[in-house]
Amino acid sequence: MYLEEKTKLPKKVIQNLDGDIENLKVYLVQDYNSNLLKRMVNFGVNIFGDLGMDEWGLVPQIRHGNVYMLREESKKKIIGLAILMRDWEDTDKCYLFDYAIAPDFHGQGLGFHFLKAVIENVKDQGFNKMGLTVDVDNAGAIKLYKDKIGFEILDMNKDEYGEGHDRYIMNLDFNNLNYKKN
Ligand SMILES: CC(C)(COP(=O)(O)OP(=O)(O)OC[C@H]1O[C@@H](n2cnc3c(N)ncnc32)[C@H](O)[C@@H]1OP(=O)(O)O)[C@@H](O)C(=O)NCCC(=O)NCCS
Repeated sequence: MYLEEKTKLPKKVIQNLDGDIENLKVYLVQDYNSNLLKRMVNFGVNIFGDLGMDEWGLVPQIRHGNVYMLREESKKKIIGLAILMRDWEDTDKCYLFDYAIAPDFHGQGLGFHFLKAVIENVKDQGFNKMGLTVDVDNAGAIKLYKDKIGFEILDMNKDEYGEGHDRYIMNLDFNNLNYKKN
């Protein structure tokens, strides 16, 4: 079994989506074959370009981190991907390494509902904090994390990934969850 079903998004979220979407389920990727791996790599490259994760980055995340996928049960198209690792210094904390929704589904609430499902799942695993970094110019993602979920900006690291990559360092304490959508 490559994908372990964790939860499904509420019906009212699915009903409002463009297109003929029957259901959307959140899966934990437990294993893969070459087609599934290729689809995950392509999903990231289409969104992040050269900064997307290749097979050499993704496989260790599947094997040793947690990779969540959002998709319809009967379809192969990936609608969302969330990649998480454990924080070495703070063992109650996980780090959201990559987070994205397929571009043709942006702005319909999936970024919010998928992340909420992922947070609830890692919470069930015993984590109580989530960290991430986000580009200071990524207004959409910042709004989602900060205003809709409750992440705090802890710091701004200039040139975090090299020149011109200024990143906000964000943290979410699960005791301060502040979901702003139904
Ligand atoms: C960031 C991302 C995951 C948001 O997904 P989404 O499905 O479009 O988000 P939602 O529709 O759930 O939006 C949630 C809230 O965030 C805000 N938001 C999302 N994208 C926005 C944008 N481009 N501009 C302004 N606000 C935006 C909306 O205000 C929305 O709140 P609302 O209900 O008040 O309108 C998606 O744009 C994406 O995959 N981007 C490319 C990858 C990326 O940048 N990932 C983050 C890396 S750290």
